[in-house]
Amino acid sequence: MLSGALLLLVALSGVLLTGGSVPLAVSDQPNLARREAIYAEACAACHGANLQGEPNWRSPGPDGRLPAPPHDATGHTWHHSDRVLLDITMRGTAAVVGRGYESNMPGFGDTYSEDELRDVLEWIKTQWPERERAHQAQVTAQDEAQR
Ligand code: HEC
Repeated sequence: MLSGALLLLVALSGVLLTGGSVPLAVSDQPNLARREAIYAEACAACHGANLQGEPNWRSPGPDGRLPAPPHDATGHTWHHSDRVLLDITMRGTAAVVGRGYESNMPGFGDTYSEDELRDVLEWIKTQWPERERAHQAQVTAQDEAQR
């Protein structure tokens, strides 16, 4: 009896732990092309065609604002939860940070649907190595647990 309950617990926690990083189902694959196209059309101009970001992205430019960081593993996009990434992409960094913070990251909530912006963020994630994907899934799970 006890071992049965334990087994169930172990099985459940396995589901919870992997919940954020379940591999894409085969039926989702065709969407990847559309997701990548949104990236190319809306994000690549600043974040780079290869997600490499702008040069010297850690230092403010002549306008005093930060350049676009990479979206690959060398940047810090993967440090943020899904909720934060979507919020920044929908509303722009200035609105998310507040207190008069100035930023060149625009909000895309008026140009694209929330689903499309979720999709483009999912595509960005597919470009990360396993370690960064796992870290970001964990940050997202923690964020969701606190809400
Ligand atoms: C006009 C240039 C520009 C475009 C186009 C642009 N971004 Fe940005 N983005 C920036 C800049 C600049 C920053 C850094 C803002 C700051 O920290 O003040 C940024 C930051 C971000 C961040 C936060 C990253 C982090 O590690 O903190 C995310 C997420 C993001 N952009 C997503 C996107 C997505 C998705 C698109 C396309 C839908 C996009 N951006 C298009 C300029 C741009």
